[in-house]
Amino acid sequence: MKEFKIAILGGGNIGTSLAKGLVASLQYTRDEILITEKREPRISHLKKLGFEVTDDNHSAVTSARMIIMSVKPQQFLSLAEEIKDNITPEHMILSTITGVALRDIGSLLGNVPVVRIMPNIALEICESMTCVSFMNTTDLQEKMILTLFNKMGEALVIPEDLMGAATVAGACGIAFALRFMRAMSQGGIEIGFDSEMSLRIAARTVKGAAGLIIETCNHPEMEIDKVTTPQGITISGLNEMEHQGLSSAVIRGLITSFNKLGNLAGSSH
Ligand SMILES: NC(=O)c1ccc[n+]([C@@H]2O[C@H](COP(=O)([O-])OP(=O)(O)OC[C@H]3O[C@@H](n4cnc5c(N)ncnc54)[C@H](OP(=O)(O)O)[C@@H]3O)[C@@H](O)[C@H]2O)c1
Repeated sequence: MKEFKIAILGGGNIGTSLAKGLVASLQYTRDEILITEKREPRISHLKKLGFEVTDDNHSAVTSARMIIMSVKPQQFLSLAEEIKDNITPEHMILSTITGVALRDIGSLLGNVPVVRIMPNIALEICESMTCVSFMNTTDLQEKMILTLFNKMGEALVIPEDLMGAATVAGACGIAFALRFMRAMSQGGIEIGFDSEMSLRIAARTVKGAAGLIIETCNHPEMEIDKVTTPQGITISGLNEMEHQGLSSAVIRGLITSFNKLGNLAGSSH
């Protein structure tokens, strides 16, 4: 049987982004990654991307030591049941699955090293914020996982009880930021740009703003102060956005997502 370095169980949105990121970060080649999927259209899609794909989770687990579970929360139990007899002490289990606790994974799959990861879809361009929590791992394994995800963006170790908050801030957060960008580009069209130009300007501007905060570690208001001259045009626009509830809408959106997460059946955040 062919050996793989990593098996990703569930090649949906995040499983595919992860596989692409592992290749884009030059850490693995496509033929070192095995992805499992059950439905033919998904299998052929992933094969077209050049990945090795199977519908057999048993052989996938037997052929790799690092196993990444990346199915929907309601699919976790059946996947765990499917693979539990193939897990050995040599395995390390990673999970992207929202709301499934380390102890639940460990109690179903044995006393193996388990890592919860909460990345976002920017993994595929190696720009993901990935929050990480460990159980049963050695220092060496933790270092290896942090290196792996630092090469696909930035990895941050968090207490497991913040995983729900990490889901909202980081994984959902990318959608919140994208919606803001869409609004910027819609506004740009109204003041004269065609949609392509407008989106390009919005994307580069948001990227620049993010880069400024990441590079300088300054508070956003400190950078905003540099743009807002008294009685100027920027402060007028900003204040109008606040009158319309921009900050409040974003904060309430995060809290709504977080509360919904808490209501998911069986969720332990
Ligand atoms: N999307 C994100 O940005 C993101 C970010 C961080 C974390 N997450 C979490 O990561 C998990 C996956 O999210 P996702 O968005 O990638 O979901 P998704 O697109 O639905 O991907 C899951 C894939 O796994 C397949 N699958 C289900 N059971 C399987 C099995 N037993 N063996 C092999 N494949 C199986 C599913 O097939 P079917 O469609 O046929 O069921 C689906 O294609 C979720 O728990 C989510 O909360 C997602």
